[in-house]
Amino acid sequence: VADVKGGEDEGAALVGKELAVRGWVRTCRAQRTVTFVEVNDGSCLSNMQCVLTPDTEGYDQIDSVTTGASVLVEGVVASSQGGKQKVELKVSKITVIGKSDPTSFPIQKKRASREFLRTVAHLRPRTNTFGAVARVRNALAYATHKFFQDNGFVWVSSPIITASDCEGAGEQFYVTTLLSNSAEGGSLLKDIPATKDGRVDWSQDFFCKPAFLTVSGQLNGETYASALSDIYTFGPTFRAENSNTARHLAEFWMIEPELAFADLNDDMACATAYLQYVVKYILENCKEDMDFFNTWVEKGIIERLNDVVEKNFVHLSYTDAVELLLGSKKKFEFPVKWGLDLQSEHERYITEVAFSGRPVIIRDYPKEIKAFYMRQNDDGKTVAAMDLLVPRVGELIGGSQREERLDHLEARLDEQNLNKESYWWYLDLRRYGSVPHAGFGLGFERLVQFATGIDNIRDAIPFPRVPGSAEF
Ligand code: 4AD
Ligand code: MG
Repeated sequence: VADVKGGEDEGAALVGKELAVRGWVRTCRAQRTVTFVEVNDGSCLSNMQCVLTPDTEGYDQIDSVTTGASVLVEGVVASSQGGKQKVELKVSKITVIGKSDPTSFPIQKKRASREFLRTVAHLRPRTNTFGAVARVRNALAYATHKFFQDNGFVWVSSPIITASDCEGAGEQFYVTTLLSNSAEGGSLLKDIPATKDGRVDWSQDFFCKPAFLTVSGQLNGETYASALSDIYTFGPTFRAENSNTARHLAEFWMIEPELAFADLNDDMACATAYLQYVVKYILENCKEDMDFFNTWVEKGIIERLNDVVEKNFVHLSYTDAVELLLGSKKKFEFPVKWGLDLQSEHERYITEVAFSGRPVIIRDYPKEIKAFYMRQNDDGKTVAAMDLLVPRVGELIGGSQREERLDHLEARLDEQNLNKESYWWYLDLRRYGSVPHAGFGLGFERLVQFATGIDNIRDAIPFPRVPGSAEF
């Protein structure tokens, strides 16, 4: 259908041509002499309007042409009188491929709430909204690879199972094997015997050491940037944070470029160019879906995204951000004080109110509230970190220049009570040919949220993983 309707002339040049469409029935409207069937094949938002008459071959199956059924329609493209579309299909033959019981099909014509649609995650891609989100998500992924590939970055696959905790925040999921020798056929930690001092004896587990699902591919990415220069990762990451918010998932995809021979300014420039590129890409290549979001999901989103492409981002130091918040008249729920982390209410105030919807990059955070690997600034108090904030979503990107000096890095590990031995390979990168380098992580679902206007992150990924939900 996209091939027919996607052109400038919306299919007008194809009038008179034969066409076959396979897809799913959205609606079926019978009038006295003709029946209109709207068929969607997922290639685009538009349906193909199909016109059936009693002369259509297969018309005896018309009772099975109900919402949700899959069909093959064959016929000739004709100009449409309706006005809503340029062309329609005069159907010579219809074949019902898979019936759909109209009394039980959960997605009826009337608009279902997004909350309800989450309970039927297996069928929600059949709706306009979720079809459009899936296509735009796909385009953002394609544009991500295109941006980095065109700029000479090498895509690196970082591992999902790992022993290290990149962020040091203790938000990891444990990975353990189902031990086959246990009575119930195996189950989890209780099957792994304890050592004499009562701790878990990991040598009995398949991984022989505590193993976790990765929270970030960054540390592994750094090893490849220390050999191939610029690289990026793009894969699933996991956080065992028990937060029920519209911006957190337990499983989300992250894009993590790592730039060799680079500092924080290079990092910020890369983040800006990347974000502008992918936003421009969907504005140019997903017009129909973006118009749909602009009308039905977030009014004015296209204009806002155009601004992202065309206007400069705001740059602000953490210290200036704190000043700005202290100087505002707004009452915040959480305290604002130099040394405390910015909460999402603060971040949203900065981008939405103080800078009226422009993306804002805040840099140079106090070292106490940031991860061990960030490079210390000369003031001894701050690190070369940056967060990129956007309206509604808040933090879209977190990044930093990495500490490339061995002695400084070891001191930071000590300060944060982290075990230096387990980071031996990471420290090796500073022993053998260390270079200044920097990178960032962008939460892909937050980008989808930002680019589509979808307000809950659970609707930005096909199968959201949040506390208590892993059914589909
Ligand atoms: O700020 P974070 O924790 O940074 C890192 O993981 C660094 N290692 C990245 C790097 O420098 N390579 O996470 C990066 C981004 C956040 O800005 C946010 O967009 C997203 O990942 N994110 C989440 N998205 C969805 N659900 C969650 N629970 C998320 N936690 C972080
Ligand atoms: Mg962060």
